[in-house]
Amino acid sequence: MRVIECQSTDEAADLVAHEILAALADKPDLVLGLATGSTPIGVYERLIAAHRERGVSFARVTTFNLDEYVGLAADHPQSYRHFMRENLFHGLDVDPANIHFPPVDGDDLPAACAAYEQAIRDAGGIDIQILGIGSNGHIGFNEPTSSLASRTRLKTLADKTLSDNARFYAEGEEQPQLATTMGIGTILDAKRIILQSFGHKKAQAVREAVEGAVSSFWPASALQMHPSVTFYLDRDSASRLTMRDYYRRVRENELRLGGH
Ligand code: F6R
Repeated sequence: MRVIECQSTDEAADLVAHEILAALADKPDLVLGLATGSTPIGVYERLIAAHRERGVSFARVTTFNLDEYVGLAADHPQSYRHFMRENLFHGLDVDPANIHFPPVDGDDLPAACAAYEQAIRDAGGIDIQILGIGSNGHIGFNEPTSSLASRTRLKTLADKTLSDNARFYAEGEEQPQLATTMGIGTILDAKRIILQSFGHKKAQAVREAVEGAVSSFWPASALQMHPSVTFYLDRDSASRLTMRDYYRRVRENELRLGGH
């Protein structure tokens, strides 16, 4: 587990975008696991800039999003399909046939969720999974007490998640209570995991995820079980970590040894 405390959210976005672009240069048919929310937007802006300004092609990339609300149409401004179109896909040359979201309708949602898992396997598995973290420690919409072995499925959103996201809904507008999400087991199958966290509101969740016990009560703590995870944090999100000096020294040594 690597913990990198960045000087700014821009520095974190630069580092994450750099890693994705380097992986893409090595493997043009990269399989990306993608998150929505405010946290990954800086990375998405940089990927779009790389495509527009330097001609980097995403034509052979396949994407799988982490989660989607149940009950919102694809063109609803709060749907994650809409979010991804507005914040990433509109600016890249990803083949629409290679863009995937967890299923949110149909007669047999469990079967459709199993098919989503199969589609990830058929694509060769996720090479890089991008994550944010909820203030309650959720990853995807795996809320506290989600099984650490869970797969793609329907989840009821936690009160904390609903209140954190209420700002996106107009007064009186109905906020979805249900979502489908990759499971924690699905996320842990990714070959590489990158979690970004910004802001003081996430400091406890980051502390529990990095330095707490592995527990379904803090779902991101399951990432401790993965062999290739990096947390990119700003100072506020890192503020409750007890081993900050150690993480800084590890980083200094890494840079000295030629890392980026
Ligand atoms: C979104 C997702 C969520 C968010 C988390 C943080 O696809 O999976 O787990 O990453 O709720 O959201 P922001 O980035 O808006 O703070």
